[in-house]
Amino acid sequence: MREITVNLGDRSYPIRVGHGLLDSTQALAGLIAAPRVLVVTNSVVAPLYLPRVMQVLQSWAPESHIMPDGEQYKTLEVMNGIITRLLERGFGRDSCLIALGGGVVGDITGFAAATYQRGIQYVQVPTTLLAQVDSSVGGKTAVNHPLGKNMIGAFHQPAGVIADTSTLATLPRRELSAGMAEVIKYGLIADAEFFAWLEREMDALMKLAPEALEYAIETSCRIKARVVEIDERESGLRAILNLGHTVGHAIETALDYGEWLHGEAVAVGMLMAADLSCRGQGLDPEVPARLRALLQRAGLPVEAPSGIGQDRLRQLMNVDKKTRSGRLRLVLLRRLGEAIVTDDVDEHRLHESMGRFLPGSGRN
Ligand SMILES: NC(=O)c1ccc[n+]([C@@H]2O[C@H](COP(=O)([O-])OP(=O)(O)OC[C@H]3O[C@@H](n4cnc5c(N)ncnc54)[C@H](O)[C@@H]3O)[C@@H](O)[C@H]2O)c1
Repeated sequence: MREITVNLGDRSYPIRVGHGLLDSTQALAGLIAAPRVLVVTNSVVAPLYLPRVMQVLQSWAPESHIMPDGEQYKTLEVMNGIITRLLERGFGRDSCLIALGGGVVGDITGFAAATYQRGIQYVQVPTTLLAQVDSSVGGKTAVNHPLGKNMIGAFHQPAGVIADTSTLATLPRRELSAGMAEVIKYGLIADAEFFAWLEREMDALMKLAPEALEYAIETSCRIKARVVEIDERESGLRAILNLGHTVGHAIETALDYGEWLHGEAVAVGMLMAADLSCRGQGLDPEVPARLRALLQRAGLPVEAPSGIGQDRLRQLMNVDKKTRSGRLRLVLLRRLGEAIVTDDVDEHRLHESMGRFLPGSGRN
């Protein structure tokens, strides 16, 4: 088992990464400082992993709550179902929620924990690669509003994160690839050596080699933890974690959040950002070429889906949360392993970069 600490004073917590941790009483149970436990999961993950977690927690006589599967259920209404369950079953402030699942379960359970009786403890047990390297770490919790994703939420740090790499064996390949986009992102923004390691080990990672997976998840969490420690509430540095996300969100919005997974859209966004960084930030042109090859080996797309016009994509980029006083802010790369956030974006160069990754795009 590998362990990383997120150092946030009295809200510090461990991230534990290892093969088979779901069955380890020591790994999970040691984090719970509450007499009552409710495990929240969904209809896909429950048959796969819920019995094991209930077994490990048996001395708490835990209860479980199963929500439907899918991003469309990351809503206030579904969260209210968790709250109702807690109230009906008489859970008090000294209760602990366990979020067992991907980012959707993690975000909604975290938000329920942030708000129930003004805040209770929760533990993240992420079962997708994206959740293990990204959403379970850092304390951002949220549900969606019909007018915008993650528009209702809170910062609420978990009491710990237990990432069992063996759960990735049942994850659909596309979901694995989508999570790998975030892993690659960490190398790009913060660690050139890690990026080079990913180039060497990508085939082993895609085959779920346990040692390689543990190292990749540990390193990703370590990078995210260091960023969160400096900027817990995203007032500055934390924005570098959004490399590729402005374009990524624009692609997802253009597709009405239907066809492409978030990580797939981020992959194309990272390529555009790297391309733009070569013309303005002095990034070595070898970097986008290396990135493209790595993304392809991770099973990720390297150009936007057809049919999205360049001007429409540019317009959708303005909706990004990083936009300040109407000015577009982008995460770009100075060099491999070093990212900056800038609003000094040359529109002509931006359009050139977008054009290179939009198949047959007209300006409409
Ligand atoms: N809080 C944050 O900082 C943060 C960061 C990034 C993303 N997010 C959020 O995370 C969500 C996306 O998370 P995700 O990519 O994990 O999606 P997800 O939670 O929808 O999981 C993807 C699919 O895999 C299934 N699944 C989960 N674990 C499985 C397993 N081990 N085996 C088989 N199937 C499994 C899920 O049921 C789902 O169908 C979005 O809502 C996004 O907004 C939050």
